[in-house]
Amino acid sequence: MKPATTIFACTHCDAQFSKWMGRCEECGSWGTVVQRAAAASAATPRQQRAEELHAFPAAQPIAFASITTLAVQRITTNIPEFDRVVGGGIVPGSLLLLGGDPGIGKSTLIAQVAAAILSGSVLYVSGEESAEQIKLRLDRLHIDQARLQFLAEEHVEVICKTMVATKPQLVIIDSIQTVASSAVEGEPGSVNQIKAAAVRFLETAKSSNIPVILIGHVTKGGELGGPRLLEHLVDTVLYLEGDTTHQFRLLRSVKNRFGATNEVGVFTMETEGLQSVQDPSALFLTERSTGPGSVITAVVEGSRVLLLEVQALVHRITFGFPQRQCSGCDAHRLSMLLAVLSRHLDVRTEQYDVHVNIAGGLRVAEPGLDLAVVLAIVSSLQKRACDKKMMVVGEVGLGGEVRSVPRLHDRVKEAQRFGLTTIITPKTTRTLADALTIAGLHPHSK
Ligand code: TYD
Ligand code: MG
Repeated sequence: MKPATTIFACTHCDAQFSKWMGRCEECGSWGTVVQRAAAASAATPRQQRAEELHAFPAAQPIAFASITTLAVQRITTNIPEFDRVVGGGIVPGSLLLLGGDPGIGKSTLIAQVAAAILSGSVLYVSGEESAEQIKLRLDRLHIDQARLQFLAEEHVEVICKTMVATKPQLVIIDSIQTVASSAVEGEPGSVNQIKAAAVRFLETAKSSNIPVILIGHVTKGGELGGPRLLEHLVDTVLYLEGDTTHQFRLLRSVKNRFGATNEVGVFTMETEGLQSVQDPSALFLTERSTGPGSVITAVVEGSRVLLLEVQALVHRITFGFPQRQCSGCDAHRLSMLLAVLSRHLDVRTEQYDVHVNIAGGLRVAEPGLDLAVVLAIVSSLQKRACDKKMMVVGEVGLGGEVRSVPRLHDRVKEAQRFGLTTIITPKTTRTLADALTIAGLHPHSK
């Protein structure tokens, strides 16, 4: 029989070590490794398994056919963009996670959602801000506070009991990183605590049929302690994205057990909170420039098509290495496109800094953006403006070919709605050289 041993565990990430150390080797936190007694077990894993099987009786499965379901009555808000993203309203008893960078507007959005719930009361639990701070925000948003209840509490057990006792229509936890369960070790915000708290909320939400929205900050760089940990656990994962220096905010559903994923809602952050944007293309194009380096493209976000302006500035370097800067698109993709331009069209940019920007502060990850980036770069390099009634879309392959993109028909339709008439797509153009010619640019840089 093995003697009882002592182990050391990190209270932040729960990594275990055989000796004490000042800094956790796993998560890098200082002073979080503490001694913990490990119960030595005499039984081998096989013996333990046999004992367990003996201890538990067999369960009786039920037939799906015997289960009757009632039509779910979703809880709607009168914020159309929010309702669309969650799939038509919040499903009672579901657990939602709203993630995003600190300061992006999560608390603002959720306060507006709480106020817009059409019936019943809302329990707002905050470990981050005091009741006065939240009240100031509610006043600023001109929110009717009659049906909102506040609770400053960090113990999950207390919150869950209050939830069951007061039966609100919706519970908001701002944020999951500030609550803790007494059942597990670790400080609030540690991996252990976040998981334990989420499991507890999940159980309570399901048993009481009260939906819970958890707010979670995305940690910089490493996702440890961030909402990523919980994605598999919760029913719906929403991310609020955007650039805090711009007014646009995108609410994206990356997982939804009760609706379409990758649906987006577009908002602008105003002095009186987030406002739904019904026609984002119109807004993105209002300040468009028509000079060299500006090209319009159509991207697909969820079920929507948005028209965006891609801007490029190609500028001769005076000294040092050429810079490649991207704002709102992928820098690796930009390097690839520059290599394709150099190899297949003899458009050389070794002597130039290249800056690419998606106007409005949006982040676009789809390859359908490629052709617009390429045309914007060549347009800036040749100091020639493209046709201002032009929309381009297409993925650019390593062989210099223009490749197809999904939902082309919808993208073209959106462009036509805005009166754009020169439309370059993989259907009309198969090579980069053709695309440049149609856009009024020279296929070669000279
Ligand atoms: P907040 O919701 O507190 O962000 P998070 O909870 O994601 O950390 O809001 C962050 C920013 O939003 C803050 O810098 C101020 C700004 N803001 C507005 O521009 N208008 C408003 O009406 C409100 C309430 C906030
Ligand atoms: Mg907040």
